[in-house]
Amino acid sequence: MNAQELTGTARTLVAGDKGLLAMDESIPTCNKRFARLGIPQTEEARRAYRELIVTTPGLGECISGAILYDKTIRQRKKDGTPFVQVITDAGIIPGIKVDTGAKDMAGHPGEKITEGLEGLRGRLVEYSQRGARFAKWRAVIAVGDLLPSRGCIEANAHALARYAALCQEAGLVPVVEPEVLMDGGHTLKRCCEVTEEVLRTVFNQLYTQRVTLEGIILKPNMVLPGLTCPKQAAVDEVADATVRCLLRAVPAAVPGIAFLSGGQSGELASARLNAMNLRFKSRRPWALAFSFARAIQQPALEIWQGKEAHVLAAQQALVHRARCNRAARRGEYNAAMEGT
Ligand code: G3H
Repeated sequence: MNAQELTGTARTLVAGDKGLLAMDESIPTCNKRFARLGIPQTEEARRAYRELIVTTPGLGECISGAILYDKTIRQRKKDGTPFVQVITDAGIIPGIKVDTGAKDMAGHPGEKITEGLEGLRGRLVEYSQRGARFAKWRAVIAVGDLLPSRGCIEANAHALARYAALCQEAGLVPVVEPEVLMDGGHTLKRCCEVTEEVLRTVFNQLYTQRVTLEGIILKPNMVLPGLTCPKQAAVDEVADATVRCLLRAVPAAVPGIAFLSGGQSGELASARLNAMNLRFKSRRPWALAFSFARAIQQPALEIWQGKEAHVLAAQQALVHRARCNRAARRGEYNAAMEGT
């Protein structure tokens, strides 16, 4: 591991006002999103959609890194140019999702454990040779009356730390993603408690596994009430709860926190990120950035509908969301931007 290179990459990923674009949906997830919009669920449609994304004019002005899927890192534009080259030429650092998915956890009904450690060392070497400079692993934590269990939190935190150590050994920056899910009727306070416990456990494990904190990016959920909680929270309340929770649990050595969107609308995700950056401008040790998939891609996907004639309009929608999030990093996003 070249520690200087690693920390340099981590810092570049969250530098200035840019953020990450997650375009690493697995084939089943991508198909599910296509099916809802009546887009054919074929390999060519998935490739064409990813070509639309990576060729979006101006994307590199807002996006520092793009997270690809195993299939996507091997794909090319119709004219034969590898996606990795298109991304790199746009000034975007290629990254790769390396977990193999969250599976039912034995003995823990309703909970998942993320798999993918077996053979990971070899896969990381291959991805690095293909141009990836960072990686992503997502753990999911469900909230319920009796959930999450300590067993689920610990097993997922341990796997995240083992993944992160292997990434750093291979010279890739690990994006560490412990996602506390939005599903359920839990309150903002409960989400805050669970998120804090999960993050504390993850950082204990990262320490135990000798992961260099200066060379990681944390990708957490925002602290939000569950989707069916009768008391939803105002934008500023979410911003305060989220940053206060992070201040208690995330060491200052971590260069950046890049949030997942988790199913929030694009507008809300931008507004909440904006409020965090505005309200905690001089009171936080790490950059507060974004690593959204749905909150950047969704409007573009809805416009595209699998039709070649819609590509330009879809790309405009994509870059618009990326620009909104770039403004949110500076604390300069406002709802009026949505009308432009
Ligand atoms: O692992 C999940 C993605 O990287 C983030 O997706 O922003 O749609 O939650 P999301």
